[in-house]
Amino acid sequence: MAVRRAQRTSFATITLILMVLVSVDAASDNNGQYSPCGDTTVARSDGFSLGFAFAGKTSFYFNTTQQLSPCDSRLGLSSSNSLFAIFRPKVDEISLLTVNSTTSLENNGYMVAFAGRKYAARSTPAFVANSTYIVTSFTLALEFQKGRLQNFYWKRDGCAKCSGSSNFVCLNNQDCAIKTSNCKNNGGTVDCSLGIQLAFSGTDKHLQALNSWYEVANLRQYSLYGVYSNLKDSLTNQYNSFF
Ligand SMILES: *[C@@H]1O[C@H](CO)[C@@H](O)[C@H](O)[C@H]1NC(C)=O
Ligand SMILES: *[C@@H]1O[C@H](CO)[C@@H](O)[C@H](O)[C@H]1NC(C)=O
Ligand SMILES: *[C@@H]1O[C@H](CO)[C@@H](O)[C@H](O)[C@H]1NC(C)=O
Repeated sequence: MAVRRAQRTSFATITLILMVLVSVDAASDNNGQYSPCGDTTVARSDGFSLGFAFAGKTSFYFNTTQQLSPCDSRLGLSSSNSLFAIFRPKVDEISLLTVNSTTSLENNGYMVAFAGRKYAARSTPAFVANSTYIVTSFTLALEFQKGRLQNFYWKRDGCAKCSGSSNFVCLNNQDCAIKTSNCKNNGGTVDCSLGIQLAFSGTDKHLQALNSWYEVANLRQYSLYGVYSNLKDSLTNQYNSFF
């Protein structure tokens, strides 16, 4: 009897702990969709899974003109040499995602942000790197309507920030790029990990406004690098001249 009760007690304790964990989790994130290739609608406190695919620009197009989501098997991205990164930021929190790839991005050229399947959204392909240059800083806006992702937009500030820095070259009047020969994986001194700033706009599924985009109406390309104290120094050093 005593043994059984003890067992029951410990079982009850475990159940309680699990419930606490679940309820903590549930209080903040009620979005059960963890795949970036699944559909969902979100509220402000939810997490939201999105992916980034890295591949040659033409790989994102089906039949040369039709841009499909990287989740669409017709693109065959998963069987090619493309790379994927998956993140789960919190809705309406400004986030800085970092991509520290051990595989060179130079062969993969362009990056597309994506989420959803039936309601698939994907960004236009953004130039990341070729053998000469790498663009390491991006700002991406996610636009929701009634909690469903509608669109991704790259926000570009031009090259004002990098025009005076010898590490940087301005590409197409829109992107500050680093010469790949300066990157650590090529024997240089610069950590060429990517940083992607995220902000949210539109409405969640309760029609509450997602404000992070407006709060940072002046969000500049490098705003967040100084804010995240836990960021690797090597990454912030890239931009030290900007602060
Ligand atoms: C590809 O595009 C061509 C020209 O627009 C069209 O005739 C052809 O049917 C398309 N193929 C597929 C598989 O969609
Ligand atoms: C790399 O990209 C830049 C900017 O688009 C371009 O000017 C340059 O010719 C490219 N270099 C190579 C080797 O493709
Ligand atoms: C990226 O990885 C390299 C090698 O592991 C490391 O030295 C560097 O600090 C990392 N950078 C970031 C931003 O995590």
